Amino acid sequence: MSVAIYAGTFDPITNGHIDIIKRSAALFDKVIVGVLVNINKKPLFEMDERLVMIDEVLKDLENVEVKTFSGLLVEFAKQEGANVLVRGLRTTTDFEYELQMAQINRKIDDTIDTMFFATDPGLSFISSSAVKELWNYDQDISEYVPEYVIWQMQKKKK
Ligand code: COA
Repeated sequence: MSVAIYAGTFDPITNGHIDIIKRSAALFDKVIVGVLVNINKKPLFEMDERLVMIDEVLKDLENVEVKTFSGLLVEFAKQEGANVLVRGLRTTTDFEYELQMAQINRKIDDTIDTMFFATDPGLSFISSSAVKELWNYDQDISEYVPEYVIWQMQKKKK
């Protein structure tokens, strides 16, 4: 069985992430969305809130599971029986960073490979921070995140 991990902070999940998850779900038997307990970022959404949002927006994808992890991504992958790490490439800047991460991860464990998806061009400039920034300035973010996420963001603003 082919199991892939798509990891991130997902604060919040965006249509860019969802695009990569859907395309992965079409290729692998199972996709695990790994939500990092990230001590380097101060998230807008608590872990529980992020998990609820991700579950809700991915509920139609039967072969996708959502789990939290801390520590090394390859360790999490091994623990879950996954042999592929999925990443999205938005720009050449992503490429440089992602190549280095893929090589580090391969150095730690060469039984786990990284696969890259070229991001949909219409979504290549999105990040969770950009969505939050636009939202702070009352801009329309409906192209970038699902309705459910907007609803949760509205609750935060209040
Ligand atoms: N569409 C939209 N946004 C995307 C995207 C896509 N396809 N791909 C990435 N992004 C966004 C993310 O939302 C994130 O936005 P933010 O910085 O505003 O939160 C930004 O681009 C960077 O993405 P990413 O590099 O995936 O960061 P992340 O914090 O979401 O996830 C991990 C980083 C979890 C993959 C990485 O830190 C990790 O593997 N950590 C575990 C420790 C480890 O094993 N390290 C490697 C060995 S040292």
